[in-house]
Amino acid sequence: MSDDLSEFIDKKIDDLNRKVDKNRIRIKEDNMLKLVETVFDDKTRLILFSMINKGIFKSITGAISTGKEANVYYADTFDNSAVAIKIFRIDAPSFKKMRQYVEGDYRFKKVSGKRSGFIEVWAKKEFKNLQRLKQHDIPSPKPILVERNILVMEYLSDGEYVLPLLKDSYPIKPNKLYKRIMEKVKILYRDAKLVHGDLSAYNILYNKDTDEFFIIDVSQSVLEDHPKADEFLLRDLNNLNNYFAGIGVNTIELNKLYKWIRGEEADPILISKYLI
Ligand SMILES: Nc1ncnc2c1ncn2[C@@H]1O[C@H](COP(=O)(O)OP(=O)(O)OP(=O)(O)O)[C@@H](O)[C@H]1O
Ligand SMILES: [Mg+2]
Repeated sequence: MSDDLSEFIDKKIDDLNRKVDKNRIRIKEDNMLKLVETVFDDKTRLILFSMINKGIFKSITGAISTGKEANVYYADTFDNSAVAIKIFRIDAPSFKKMRQYVEGDYRFKKVSGKRSGFIEVWAKKEFKNLQRLKQHDIPSPKPILVERNILVMEYLSDGEYVLPLLKDSYPIKPNKLYKRIMEKVKILYRDAKLVHGDLSAYNILYNKDTDEFFIIDVSQSVLEDHPKADEFLLRDLNNLNNYFAGIGVNTIELNKLYKWIRGEEADPILISKYLI
């Protein structure tokens, strides 16, 4: 980054801080900077500050998850609630692998070859996909805002703690949960026209108190007409079958499951990968 730009951003951050101070808004500034300082670029921090200034949240109070492609934080809001903030790394190492999920999606035809432009599309894609899930009543975090590489969404908790991943919690009624999740995967495909693309017990949160589940992490989800949609759907179904079989559920055979969702038989070459 040029010195001029860096200076400009520093000045903007100072201005924002001053404005925020003037409004007597409490920010745990040290905390926030410590959390985001090392991993994120100046522009990311600038957007976070402007979000605080707009009242989207009050302060980032902790990290939920730090991963290769994104970090997820929780933040307090001004109405004493909380939001989850997913910040995609501009320097994500799997940049090349990520491209296959965007190419072939008419919604993102003009994808920039530049990393920052691409990650921006990636964040927007997750936002739009979350909107689609909500429209079709598929349990998932409600999307609130997306700006550049930052996605703000509903924070999923049991009222006190963040919800655990399904893989770390034993469901109350595993057989019923298997069916309930598969019903939603069918709606996701048939009505929302989406294939998750990374669906497994790692991307489903589960609330033991209420027996509710939530599908998360839909940045890589693709439309059903994506060239690899069938392959991704099979992989998703296989992941879920493996998890549920592992906890004693009598799962439906993969090809039957695929046909029930898709309405037609799976390509024998594709399915042979899973029938060893
Ligand atoms: N809306 C949310 N509410 C609460 N927790 C969340 C929310 N979204 C994500 N998380 C938590 O953050 C973790 C990472 O989120 P997500 O799966 O969307 O990102 P990811 O790209 O898979 O990150 P990673 O590279 O770490 O796998 C989840 O496993 C979950 O524990
Ligand atoms: Mg994930």
